[in-house]
Amino acid sequence: MTISVLSVASEAYPLVKTGGLADVVGALPAALAPHDVATTTLLPGYPAVLAALNRPRAVHRWADLLGTPARLLAGTLDGAQPLLALDAPALFAREGGLYADALGRDWEDNWRRFAALSRAAADLATGAVKGRRFDVLHAHDWQAALAPAYLRYAGAPVRSVMTVHNIAFQGRCDAAIFDALGLPPEAWAIDGVEYYGGVGLLKGGLEAADAITTVSPTYAQEILEPAFGMGLEGLIAARRARVHGIVNGIDPAVWNPATDRALPARYTDRTLAKRVVNKRAVEAAFGLEEGDAPIFCVISRLTWQKGMDVLAECLDALVAMGGRLAMLGSGDAALEHAFRLAADRYPGRVGVRIGYDEPLSHLLQGGSDAILIPSRFEPCGLTQLYGLAYGCVPVVARTGGLADTVIDANEAALDAGVATGVQFDGVTRETLTAAIARTVAIHRTPDRWTTLQRRGMRSDFSWAKSGERYARLYRELLSA
Ligand code: ADP
Ligand code: GLC
Repeated sequence: MTISVLSVASEAYPLVKTGGLADVVGALPAALAPHDVATTTLLPGYPAVLAALNRPRAVHRWADLLGTPARLLAGTLDGAQPLLALDAPALFAREGGLYADALGRDWEDNWRRFAALSRAAADLATGAVKGRRFDVLHAHDWQAALAPAYLRYAGAPVRSVMTVHNIAFQGRCDAAIFDALGLPPEAWAIDGVEYYGGVGLLKGGLEAADAITTVSPTYAQEILEPAFGMGLEGLIAARRARVHGIVNGIDPAVWNPATDRALPARYTDRTLAKRVVNKRAVEAAFGLEEGDAPIFCVISRLTWQKGMDVLAECLDALVAMGGRLAMLGSGDAALEHAFRLAADRYPGRVGVRIGYDEPLSHLLQGGSDAILIPSRFEPCGLTQLYGLAYGCVPVVARTGGLADTVIDANEAALDAGVATGVQFDGVTRETLTAAIARTVAIHRTPDRWTTLQRRGMRSDFSWAKSGERYARLYRELLSA
C-alpha cells in the first residue's frame, strides 16, 4: 500500500534555504519514493515559493487562520514533486529573511506565522481539503511543531512524526500567545504546550507526536543529557521508546562531483587529479597564493554551535603549519569580524567571504583539500557528507552526526584503508590544532591522502538506508 505523507517545514531546497533543514526536506520525497511513500510538501507562501509553484490552484480558503485570511495553493515543483503553499500575505509576503528582517531581527510574529502553518497542516491532514487524504503528518523542527499538537487535540486518526533537526531552536514564546493559538484549555499543561511558564512550540510537538526522530543515532543519545537536551532532556527521556535516530543522506542530483556544474573540472574517485583545476579556482576566488599546501575550507553559519570561536584561535597555528584557509560563512558579527581580521593578517594564506553563496560552496568542496567542522554539537551535519562525496576530507569534532558518518584516520584505520576523515574529542584550541596537524601530516604522504579521499568518496552517504528507515517507521505507526 502506498503511504501518503504530508511533510511540513519552513524551508526546502531549492526554493528557500538557510541551512541543512532545507536540504533534507528537499531531498526526502525522492528518498522515500522507492519505498512506496508519496510525499507532499507544505511550505509557507514566501514570495520565492509562490513564484516557483507550477500551475498553482487554490484548493482551500480560511477566512480567519490565526487572525488572517489565507488560502492553500496546490501545484508542483518542476512539474513533478507535489507542493502546497500557504498563501497568507500578512504573514509571509515580506522582504528580508525567512525568520528575520533585513537587519537580522527576528520577526515579532514568528509564533503566529508558524502556528498558522501548523494549523493549516493539521486541517489538511484531517481532511479539510476535498480529495486530499494523508496517512502521516511529518513535521520538521519548531516551525512545524504545533501541527502534531493540533492533530492530537482534534483527536484525528492521522499519525504524526516530529523530526528534531536541532533541539537548540525551540520556539519558546510568552504565555500570552496561548489564547491566540486556538488550542483547547487542556493544552495548557505540563504534557501539553506549556513550557517553563511560557509556550514551547517544539515542546508541544514532542509531547504530541506518535514518533520523534532526530537526525543521527548519536544525537538521539546525546539529547538525553542536559548539556545537549537544552531543557528538553527530561521529555526526551520520558518518551525514549518513541525516539529514533535516523541519519541524513545527501541528494545525488545536487551533490555529485561527476556532474556538478559549479565545478570548473568535474571528476570521480578515479580522476582525482582533475581536482587541481578546482583548487586553482578556489585560490583565485579567495585570494590565496598558488601552491600545493593544503587548503582547509569552512562552509558554515558562524556561531558558537559550530565552534567558530575556537577555530579563530587556531589560525596562527594552521598558517604556521603551512596550511591555508578558505572560509565562506556568515553569522555572529564578532566572529565575522575576527575572521576578516585574520584575512588581513595573513594575506594569501587566509581568505574569507562573508555571505551566503550556494555555487561557491560547491566549488569549495570540489577544490579544497579538507573541510573543518569543529562543532560543539551537531545533530547530523551535511557539509561533512558533501566533503566525503567530493574528496574534501572532513576534519570533525566527535559529536552527533559527525561521530556517526566519519571514520577517523588513526594508524590502524589508515593501515586497513578504511579511514575517511579526521576526528577529535572536545572542541578546544589544543584538540583542534592537533587535528589540523594530523591532517597536514597525512597530506604530506600523497598515497595515504588519496586513499583517504577515495575511501570517503566510496562510503555510503546515500539516502538508501535512511529512506527505508523512515518508511518502516511510518508503516509501524500505521499498523500500531
Ligand atoms: P546547519 O543546518 O546546522 O547550518 P548543516 O551542515 O546541516 O548545518 O547544513 C548547512 C547547509 O548550509 C549545507 O548545505 C551548507 O553547504 C550550507 N551553507 C552553510 N553556510 C553557507 C554559506 N555561507 N553559503 C552557502 N551555503 C552554506
Ligand atoms: C540542523 C542541524 C544540522 C543538520 C540539519 C539537517 O540544522 O544543525 O546538524 O544536519 O539540521 O538535519
